[in-house]
Amino acid sequence: MEKPNIILLGAPGSGKGTRAVVLSEVLGVPQIATGDLFRKNLKLMTEIGKVAKGYIDRGELVPDEVTAAMLRQRLEEPDAQNGFILDGFPRSVNQAKILDGLLAQKGAKINSVIYIKVDDEEIVKRLSGRMICSKCQAPYHKIDNKPKREGVCDKCGGELVVRDDDNPDTIRKRLKVFHETTFPLVELYPKSGILSEIKSEKSANGLKFDMAELSRRLGFIK
Ligand code: AP5
Repeated sequence: MEKPNIILLGAPGSGKGTRAVVLSEVLGVPQIATGDLFRKNLKLMTEIGKVAKGYIDRGELVPDEVTAAMLRQRLEEPDAQNGFILDGFPRSVNQAKILDGLLAQKGAKINSVIYIKVDDEEIVKRLSGRMICSKCQAPYHKIDNKPKREGVCDKCGGELVVRDDDNPDTIRKRLKVFHETTFPLVELYPKSGILSEIKSEKSANGLKFDMAELSRRLGFIK
């Protein structure tokens, strides 16, 4: 069976992170989320974190050379050698080329791209109610995906917080960047025959069944 080298593609707030957490459990491979990696760097005040801060606060993409260097390092880690779920990379045609180059050096390639389609209106609703764990970054929603204990992460017990970039102005800017720069990937990948489109209309609960079904259909599990 092929190692799952998966890209989750979708607008900000489409549910990439929510699905990646579940897919990672189903497939036993790590979720690699460039946004989460940036937020870890911000918290630790690393050089990458300092460079990324302004871009993230404005809802813009961090320059490719910074993002690619961070991703290259993460892909070298032992847990990523049997497959991975990329959440938030690539976000442009240029980043897709960079990714192909990084993987080619390891004799690997992407074998599945999952595009999560959601309307902008729904996205604004989701992001306005989102909370994330300050420790493990797992996403929750004040109405649709509540934690068992208010303000506390189900997975690690960390405190739930609202992300700085989940404010109306930055959400609008992030959506604009998605439509202009990231959406062209949805037109690029079908040419390679590896794109599956899923509609994310259901609530975030009950995703485990859906993700296991999808993994079976894609041939990653029996
Ligand atoms: P990043 O952290 O990747 O943010 P994003 O792409 O804007 O995506 P989000 O994390 O906001 O949303 P998501 O799709 O994961 O949705 P979630 O599952 O949380 O990036 C942040 C910034 O970092 C970027 O703006 C950029 O500056 C920088 N960056 C990152 N990668 C980069 C790159 N490659 N190049 C350059 N810069 C980069 O769900 C959202 C909410 O909806 C949650 O509350 C959830 O509970 C709820 N929800 C999820 N699914 C459902 C459902 N089915 N029904 C109802 N509610 C749902």
